[in-house]
Amino acid sequence: MNQEILAATARALAATGKGILAADESGGTIKKRFDAIGAESTEQTRQAYRNMLFVTEGMEQHISGVIMFDETVRQSTADGTPFPAYLAARGVQPGIKVDRGAKPLAGHPGESVTEGLDGLRERLAEYATLGLTFAKWRAVITIGDGIPSAACIGSNAEALARYAALCQEAGIVPVVEPEVLLDGSHTMERCREVTGQTLAAVFAALAAHRVYLPGIILKPNMVVAGADCPDQPGSAEVARQTLELLSAQVPAEVPGIAFLSGGQTELQATANLQAMNAIADIGKPWRLTFSYGRALQQSALQSWSGNSEQLPAGQAAFLHRARMNGAATSGSYSEALETGS
Ligand code: 13P
Repeated sequence: MNQEILAATARALAATGKGILAADESGGTIKKRFDAIGAESTEQTRQAYRNMLFVTEGMEQHISGVIMFDETVRQSTADGTPFPAYLAARGVQPGIKVDRGAKPLAGHPGESVTEGLDGLRERLAEYATLGLTFAKWRAVITIGDGIPSAACIGSNAEALARYAALCQEAGIVPVVEPEVLLDGSHTMERCREVTGQTLAAVFAALAAHRVYLPGIILKPNMVVAGADCPDQPGSAEVARQTLELLSAQVPAEVPGIAFLSGGQTELQATANLQAMNAIADIGKPWRLTFSYGRALQQSALQSWSGNSEQLPAGQAAFLHRARMNGAATSGSYSEALETGS
């Protein structure tokens, strides 16, 4: 493990004013996104869409890294430059989703465990030769009646730690993503409790597996109420609850915390990140940034709608969200900036 390289990559991913674009939708997920805009999902349309995002002029000022899917890291720009090399040349870290998805956890209805550890060492070795500098593994925790169970939290934490150790062995920075889902009618307090239990288990497992904390990025959910909860807190409350919890659970050696958007609207995700970075009375030893999928792509997808004539409109929408979230990482986002007024 080369600690210096790992720490430098992690610091670059969490650089001020920048965050991560999660464009690593699996075949099934990207089809769902394309279905919603009436576009067909083929190898060629997926290349065209990802190409649109990646070649957007100026995006490198706000985007520190891009997470891709296996198919995408083997695709190229129009002039034949492989996407990983193209992004690296623009100063953007190329990353790869390496988990094989959340699968039903045996004996635990409604719960899942993320798979993909078998053969991971060999896959990471190949990804390193393709120039990928960081990776992602997403664990999914569902809140419901009597769940999550200790078995679900424990097995997901263990898998995240084994993945993270393997990444670091290959010189690749692991993005450690334990996602407590937004789905459900649970309160914000319940989300805080479960997120706290999950983070405690994850950091215990990372320590047991000797993961080098300056060489990781944590990708958590924010503390929010379930999507169907009648009592929805505002950004200031989300920010305070989230920061209090992270202060208690996340060691200061972790260089960056890059949130997932998890189904929040584009504007909510930006406002919540802004509110966290604006809080001055809670210590923040790590950088707080974004690793958004939907919250960076929703308007871009809609503007593009699978139509090649709309590529500039799609890029403008993507660049706008990247700029707004970049501003939110330094606490300088505002409604005036959003609307350009
Ligand atoms: P969302 O921001 O759409 O939740 O996606 C982030 C991600 O990478 C989930 O694994």
